[in-house]
Amino acid sequence: MNTTIFDFIGDHAGEWKVTSMIALKGEPIEPVSHIKKISSSLVPSNKGIWTLKGIVSNLRYTEKEDKDNLVAIQEDLGRSEATLAAFIPIRKSEAWWNLAQDERRKIMENKSQHTQTGMKYLPAIARKLFHSRDIGEPFDFLTWFEYAPADAAAFEELLEALRKTEEWSYVDREIDIRLVRI
Ligand code: HEM
Repeated sequence: MNTTIFDFIGDHAGEWKVTSMIALKGEPIEPVSHIKKISSSLVPSNKGIWTLKGIVSNLRYTEKEDKDNLVAIQEDLGRSEATLAAFIPIRKSEAWWNLAQDERRKIMENKSQHTQTGMKYLPAIARKLFHSRDIGEPFDFLTWFEYAPADAAAFEELLEALRKTEEWSYVDREIDIRLVRI
């Protein structure tokens, strides 16, 4: 079974029930009541109401010290107490993609402190990043987070902090989907 390519299927049934779905920037996507995530392949699939495909890829910007810290504290998805999730597909602008790698890293890490801010919310928030840009998908990234109800307020605080950063000024499409495990 493939463990790097996943389909996120929006449908009428699935293991996660949608509690809210907001298009924060750019075109909305069709409302669905449930989402399921399945191991998949690059073969185009037309399942459910919509399917978004993402790949687990290598790190682009994280240096060794941060990587070691992340590996030491982060939790895996699927913890039984983490009954809430957020699925946030994101696209960044052409201006972002026209920057060089070192300029993008500077904006993410030096100016926006993405990892430093995020790290404060570990291990409570479990996270997974999927890349979609290079496979012709409508979003560049699919982000998935799982947390316990007791950490819901902290998750909102984290999002609020990240969305104020210079990095986010390059986000031109963002759909915020919240879920509860059923
Ligand atoms: C990328 C950490 C929360 C969206 C990254 C990277 C790290 C990181 C280390 C860089 C990966 C690389 O080197 O390629 C964290 C931590 C978080 C967190 C520790 C705490 C929970 C969030 C949240 C969002 C988010 C709440 C928003 C929905 C993204 C996106 C990328 C990314 C879209 C890819 C950016 C790009 O490659 O241009 N995150 N993150 N992260 N994160 Fe976070």
